Amino acid sequence: MVEQNLRNAIRDIPDFPKPGIIFKDITPILKDPQLCEDIVDAFVDRIKHLKLDVIAGIESRGFLFGLMVANKLKIPFVPIRKQGKLPAKTVAESYKLEYGQATIEVHEDAFPQGSNVLIHDDLLATGGTVVAAAKLIEKLGGHVAGFSFLISLDFLKGEGRLHRFSENVYSLVR
Ligand code: PRP
Ligand code: MG
Repeated sequence: MVEQNLRNAIRDIPDFPKPGIIFKDITPILKDPQLCEDIVDAFVDRIKHLKLDVIAGIESRGFLFGLMVANKLKIPFVPIRKQGKLPAKTVAESYKLEYGQATIEVHEDAFPQGSNVLIHDDLLATGGTVVAAAKLIEKLGGHVAGFSFLISLDFLKGEGRLHRFSENVYSLVR
């Protein structure tokens, strides 16, 4: 039910950000507070058995539901940001994009050693972003307890890249 409402709320924008790409726009979801609440509850249902210590959300669209779910579970939220945005001491991890590369960072004191961390983002495409996030968490001595996404683009086969970190991959819509 929530999955169907979520699916209906996702808006396809052809040729953004470049010709041939169909962009999955999640902004209509954010205008519907009941749907947002149902999405948070759906995530909580799927992940509550994981005994999480922290949810790490990925800039920028991973912040939206990452924080809401962490609040609901009453656990800390940690932002993983693009390079140069976090003010205190950070660790960094680079990953390949279609053209060139990108770098993400997290504060080095973001969570205690051995923490059970869920990585959250809005969308799983190639998996490059969350694989880099998982490496960051392991660098800091955290344990990747799982991944959650609103949307998985299964045809890009990103999920297979995540299983070396955790078998727990939760996507509301595929
Ligand atoms: C998009 C999306 C995911 C990532 C998925 O973010 O929100 O974070 O790409 O791609 P991947 O699985 O191939 O790595 P984007 O970098 O466009 O930034 P934004 O969230 O700040 O808009
Ligand atoms: Mg993103």
